[in-house]
Amino acid sequence: IPPVSKICCIGAGYVGGPTMAMIAHKCPHIDVKVVDINADRIAQWNSDRLPIYEPGLDEIVQSSRGKNLTFTTEIDQAIRAADMVFISVNTPTKTFGVGAGRAANLEFVEKCARRIAEVSEGHKIVVEKSTLPVRTAEAVKRILSNTANNASFDVLSNPEFLAEGTAIEDLLEPDRVLIGGERPESIEALVEIYANWVPRARLLTTNLWSSELSKLTANAFLAQRVSSINAISALCEATGADVDEVAAAIGTDSRIGPKFLKSSVGFGGSCFQKDILNLVYLCQYFGLPEVADYWEQVVRMNDYQKERFVTRMVRTMFNTVSDKKIGIWGFAFKKDTNDTRESASIYVCRDLLLEKARLCIYDPQVSEHQILNDLEYVFTEGDNKISEAKRELIEQHVTFASSAQEASSDSHAIAVLTEWDEFADANFDAIYASMKKPAFVFDGRNRLKDLDLKAKGFEYHGIGF
Ligand code: NAI
Repeated sequence: IPPVSKICCIGAGYVGGPTMAMIAHKCPHIDVKVVDINADRIAQWNSDRLPIYEPGLDEIVQSSRGKNLTFTTEIDQAIRAADMVFISVNTPTKTFGVGAGRAANLEFVEKCARRIAEVSEGHKIVVEKSTLPVRTAEAVKRILSNTANNASFDVLSNPEFLAEGTAIEDLLEPDRVLIGGERPESIEALVEIYANWVPRARLLTTNLWSSELSKLTANAFLAQRVSSINAISALCEATGADVDEVAAAIGTDSRIGPKFLKSSVGFGGSCFQKDILNLVYLCQYFGLPEVADYWEQVVRMNDYQKERFVTRMVRTMFNTVSDKKIGIWGFAFKKDTNDTRESASIYVCRDLLLEKARLCIYDPQVSEHQILNDLEYVFTEGDNKISEAKRELIEQHVTFASSAQEASSDSHAIAVLTEWDEFADANFDAIYASMKKPAFVFDGRNRLKDLDLKAKGFEYHGIGF
């Protein structure tokens, strides 16, 4: 197999965009085309305002765009010209039919495979970049075997481990790159690409199934750590222990390690919940109900943590938040991203709206349009429609602010739901003066814990103490 000189990536999302920008940046000898059916998204990739916010992404894109990095909707041409085609489309949880609420919806992946089979000529390496259930490559190979022009294919699994908010750092210096495959020549072709900037010792190669399953397992372990420390946070609140002290104490044990032990209002993001539910579904499918139940509990604990946060707010505020203004600080699922998928903020806002609170929302990167979409979606019912009553609830109870301070002006409480750094720099004296008393702060990220807000007059509540 000659070295790869042309890449096509199907899916210009949070993974396809940054990963391909990095490959193009590090491999000026490779032509990289990122394609998508969403013309708006492609237009944004070609504009000054990229569709996703990631520190450092603008610079990386600008360094290669217009040279060896192209964003286009000309999908068939890009596939046909490429030696290697990445599939980086979304794989959300199925919302209908068999496995609804757990299994991954593989419709988009299958459509890509069919498109590749139809338009390709010659030999191509097809790389699964999307997170997929173990053994999906088998289905992809079968679809690719029905080709229009006698094309031939090799399938690799190359799951992505970047975290949103630190995507560029993670891509520049990954802990490891995982490549699963069957034919050593094809694996080597992808290894050669990453070897342009990643030390060879960090390029792990495995069989296809291990690679597919490792991605689901990594996310299950990461989410499990968060749910574990969150479970302990509830016990801390009941007993006078402090979860941050407990986390620091156990984190010094080299077998446990200090990372990913931060207690919070709950994990979010497009991946953790979806990938665990997918793992649960696979375990049930393969007749392993005990294993399925074990992992499902990680998601249940996360739901409990979000519910618990709202319950605590309501109880603390004299058992009613009805008609009270609450400043919502942060809507993204974590700092340094504009992604809101499965953000804890969505569920906390939903439950506060059901209590008839008036919310004034501020996020430095998420648009009002996106927030309204998320709130409407979370209130949709079985038929995927939102009732008039719920739409009115949102219209009458949600407003937006252009700063954290504005969001909390004249409010009864602040709920910190994303750990944006700028929140710690707010003018708390002015905020306190403008709030109703007692001035409650409910910090779902313990972001303001070190600021001694009590000394400024606030009634401060965090997670796990
Ligand atoms: P995304 O939703 O941001 O992007 C997917 C893109 O694929 C969309 O722009 C969509 O229009 C496009 N698309 C769908 N079907 C298509 C088709 N048939 N032809 C052309 N384009 C098509 O999703 P994201 O976040 O980039 O995730 C992609 C995959 O990567 C998922 O499987 C996810 O689990 C995985 N992943 C995501 C991570 C993250 O942090 N977001 C991290 C690691 C893996």
